Amino acid sequence: MRVRAISFTAPRSGSVTVSSTAPTLVARCVHGLEPTLAAEILQLGAGVITYLGHREIHFRTRRPRTRAVALRTPDDVFLLAARCADIGVAKQGVSTLARLADLADLDSLARGRRRQGGPGTITGIEVSASFLGRRNFNRYDVEDAVGRALARRLGVGYHSRRTGTAPPAGYAGWRVTLDGAHATLMLRIADRPLHRRDYRRRTVPGSLHPPLAAAMVRMADIRPGHTVVDPCCGAGTLLIEAAAQQPQARLYGFDLEVTALRASHDNATLLPVAFPADTERRLTPAGDIDPARYNTADTRWRSMLDSDVGPGLFTWPEVEGLPTPDSGGAPAVFSQADAGSSPTPDSSINRVVFARADAGRLPMPDGSADRILSNPPWGGQVAGSGLLSSSTSLWWAELRRVLAPGATAVVLLPDLDDLPIGVRHQLVPTHLQRVRVSGAESYLVRLVAPRTRRGRKASPRNERTPL
Ligand SMILES: C[S@@+](CC[C@H](N)C(=O)[O-])C[C@H]1O[C@@H](n2cnc3c(N)ncnc32)[C@H](O)[C@@H]1O
Repeated sequence: MRVRAISFTAPRSGSVTVSSTAPTLVARCVHGLEPTLAAEILQLGAGVITYLGHREIHFRTRRPRTRAVALRTPDDVFLLAARCADIGVAKQGVSTLARLADLADLDSLARGRRRQGGPGTITGIEVSASFLGRRNFNRYDVEDAVGRALARRLGVGYHSRRTGTAPPAGYAGWRVTLDGAHATLMLRIADRPLHRRDYRRRTVPGSLHPPLAAAMVRMADIRPGHTVVDPCCGAGTLLIEAAAQQPQARLYGFDLEVTALRASHDNATLLPVAFPADTERRLTPAGDIDPARYNTADTRWRSMLDSDVGPGLFTWPEVEGLPTPDSGGAPAVFSQADAGSSPTPDSSINRVVFARADAGRLPMPDGSADRILSNPPWGGQVAGSGLLSSSTSLWWAELRRVLAPGATAVVLLPDLDDLPIGVRHQLVPTHLQRVRVSGAESYLVRLVAPRTRRGRKASPRNERTPL
C-alpha cells in the first residue's frame, strides 16, 4: 500500500471555497466504517486524507479520475463545494444558508465532477439535507433555501423533496450537512448515491447495506482461487460484493428460502451464475422434494432428517457443480451458459453457485472454504429457520467444520452474546468493529479457524491472515 501522507486535522472554520487545482472530495459512510473507508481510499490511491470525522472522510487529489466512484465502502462521494458556520437552532437562520450557494465555485465544481467521472452537465438541482441536534426547522426548509439559490445561479430547475416525488433523471444531487460547527455544501459526483448498486434488483428482509457488505469482503481479504461461502446468502449481497473485489474466486451461496435464492440469482445476473436449468424443480418447497433426487447417503445427517422435521427438508440437494463429501473437496464449477449441461471447471473467472441448503448442515466438505461471509438470521428482521430455528449453535459448528485450517470467517452479529459459542468451536476472534446502520448497532467480527484439524497437520491453502 502506498501512503503518501495522512493528516487527521479538523477542517478550518469559517468560509472555504474549493481550490480548482486540488478539489476536496468527501466520502460519507456508515458510522463505524470510517477506518475501513480510509484504508480503501489510501489503497486505491484515490487521494490524500485531510480529515477523518464522524461518518465522513475528506481527501484531496490533483489527479483526474482518481477512481473515487470505484470505492465500495462509502455510501457516497462528493466534491466539497462550500462551508460556513452552522446556523444554530433558529428558523430565521435558514435563509442565510443560501450563502453556501454563493460561495461555491460552480464552474470548477462542474469541471471537477466531470474529471472524476461524473455527468458532464447540470440540468437541474436536487438537495438532500441532514443536521445533528434539535432545530426549529426541518430538512426541507434547508433543502429549499439552498436548492433555490443554486438553481437561480445556474439557471436550471430545482426539484423539492418536500413533494415526496423522485427528482427528474439527470438532476445533480447536492448535499447539505449541519454538524453543530459547520454548514457544508457538497456536490455528488455520480449521478446517484454510490450505495445504490446497479446489480441490486431485489432485496429480502435483512438484506445488507451494500457498503457494509463491501467492508466485510475487504476484511476477509479474499485471494484469487479462494472458495468463498455465504451459508445464509439472502439476496446474495455479500457474494456479489466479493465478486466485485476479487474476480477470481469461487462463490457458494446457500439459503433455505426459495425467494432469497431467486433474489440472489436475479441480482447476480451480471456474474456467471451456476443455477441449473431445472432450478424451479429443485427449489420447490421441501415437502414436494423427491428424496430420491437427494444425497441422503451421508449418515451424519440421518438422525436430524428423521427426528426433527421429517424426510426431505434437510437432505443435500445434488446441485451439479457443488463439492460433495466424496469429491475430496475439489469444487467443480460451471457458468450460466453451462447451466443444465456438464460442469466446466474454470478458475480464471468468478463463479457463483446459489443452492437451497440449511446453514446448519452445509453441502460442503470439511475444510473446503477459504473464506466464509455471513450475516446470520438472528437479532434482526429475520429469524432462523430449519436447523437454526431454536439455536445458533449448528451455524457455528458448520462454520468451524467447513473452514479450511487457518481460514477466515467475517460475520455480522447483532450483539456479542453468541461469540462464546464460536470460541467454543475453536474459532478465534481476531478483529471486532462496531457499526451502526439505520440506527441499529451490529458487530463486524473476523474469526480464524485453527491451523490444524482433527490432529492432522495443517496444509495452508494460499493463506495469509490479513492484518
Ligand atoms: C439476514 S438474512 C441475510 C441477508 C443477506 N446477507 C442479504 O444481503 O440479502 C438471513 C438469511 O438467512 C436465511 N436463513 C434462515 N434460516 C436459515 C437456515 N437454517 N439455513 C440457511 N439460511 C437460512 C434467511 O432466509 C435469510 O435470507
